[in-house]
Amino acid sequence: MTAPKYHLTSYGCQMNKLDSELVESKLRQRGYVPAPDEQSADVVLLNTCSVRQHAEDRVWSRLGKLRIRKRTQPHLVVGVLGCMAEEHQRFMVARMPHIDLVVGPSAFGDIDISVEAARQKNLELAHEHARTASRSPLHGAGLVAAGIGVSGDTIVRDVSVRPHKSQAFVSVMRGCNMPCTYCIVPTTRGDEVSRPIAQIVEEAERLCGDGVTEITLLGQTVNAYGRDLGPGITLSKLLRALHEVPALRRLAFITSHPNFLSEDLIAAVAELPKVARYLHLPVQSGSDRVLKAMRRGYTRDRYLRRVEQLLARAPDMELHSDFIVGYPGETAAEFEESASLLRQVRYSQSYVFQYSPRPGTLAAALVDDVPRAEKERRNQVMLAIQDEICDEKHRALIGTTQEVLVEGVSPKDSKRLTGRTVHHRIVHFERPTDGGLDLVSRYVPVRIEQAMTHSLIGTRLRETEAEHGPHDRDEHVVLEAKVSAP
Ligand code: SAH
Ligand code: SF4
Ligand code: F3S
Repeated sequence: MTAPKYHLTSYGCQMNKLDSELVESKLRQRGYVPAPDEQSADVVLLNTCSVRQHAEDRVWSRLGKLRIRKRTQPHLVVGVLGCMAEEHQRFMVARMPHIDLVVGPSAFGDIDISVEAARQKNLELAHEHARTASRSPLHGAGLVAAGIGVSGDTIVRDVSVRPHKSQAFVSVMRGCNMPCTYCIVPTTRGDEVSRPIAQIVEEAERLCGDGVTEITLLGQTVNAYGRDLGPGITLSKLLRALHEVPALRRLAFITSHPNFLSEDLIAAVAELPKVARYLHLPVQSGSDRVLKAMRRGYTRDRYLRRVEQLLARAPDMELHSDFIVGYPGETAAEFEESASLLRQVRYSQSYVFQYSPRPGTLAAALVDDVPRAEKERRNQVMLAIQDEICDEKHRALIGTTQEVLVEGVSPKDSKRLTGRTVHHRIVHFERPTDGGLDLVSRYVPVRIEQAMTHSLIGTRLRETEAEHGPHDRDEHVVLEAKVSAP
């Protein structure tokens, strides 16, 4: 018998992408193989996101298309995983009876068993359907595993299942205990649960033993790490422990909450040379009234003071943010305070989201009174400011040499390779005549020659890998001088 083939699509945040890797490793252990495309798959899984209505709409529409396919391929298993599964549970099958499987993140530990059960049940249903030549609409297996189950953290990670040879995500905590009024994540992901330091270090060691050199730690409020484990267990302690893993060269962590940017963490970031030079510290709004309404737990001033403290100790850190525009009751003047904050902090990257009411959240009870066109206008204003800042920051980098971890061929231009700097900036450079695929996963120096809004373009200098340690920024100067000497 041929092995069943799966096709898995991830929506949403990095945590979902990592969950998808864990789900894949479970399925492979059970003998499933990846399908080359969705059309040839026996099992189609969507790992979904609920954070905004738009994210859910995309999934509903894809599910609608899969219903049509099930008419001719009744054995096909259609599975909904992730945050929508956790949020809607049985309602998903009530709305779309052709769905065979609904599995929330709290039940990923048994995902292989659930998928196999749905597949078996579907084979029976398809057989029955053919036997009776029924023309009735197809009902799926309708198995629901959400709300409670065996959590994904019980999965012993197969480190070989990951998209990049040199880069990996590591989950350090799940869930979120924050009271942000607009957010569905605490509902879909449950309470904060941190993993013990030893377990995380062990996983990092295995990943680094398999070629990983850059790790990004994941948590919804990653800098609140450890508060459920007891006093003294903090993100800074974890960073210091991971810093000792010899093959590791870059260590990043997302997403930080402003309330937990402690002195202790600032000290670790300042002192540890392997820690990536960017911090994702979403502010959401620049208006004190809106911040209070959102229950973010800080004021504009307090946020700015924290940022100042960080930059005083670690001046080369770049800041990234998220903003929500059009929160209920946000006036044009309050919005301008977000715009002015963006200009003041000069983030090197911002995600701007139009407020989307999520059923069951506190904010959903408020009138969503900022008109759609006005939300769109505010969104565009923010993006224009951010682009201007990016342009300026990028232009200032022309002539410098950046250490780039090469990720692969540029998706938009096959003549170029692409990678990221320690500040998380995208850099493209020309492929060598031999194709340069041996450069993938290596750290190479690139001299920046052209600035685009969202990326940089440069020329590769010679290799540093053998003789240089992790990003010592002074080295670039020396290297530059060496290379440019006649
Ligand atoms: N845990 C992270 C990210 C949460 S979701 C954090 O707290 O920063 C990612 C982003 O989506 C949030 O930062 C917020 O900007 C945005 N977001 C969350 N809920 C939203 C909603 N209901 N409408 C619009 N944007 C939302
Ligand atoms: Fe949502 Fe707030 Fe938790 Fe972030 S900190 S996941 S925005 S509740
Ligand atoms: Fe979306 Fe769930 Fe992540 S709601 S943002 S996939 S935690």
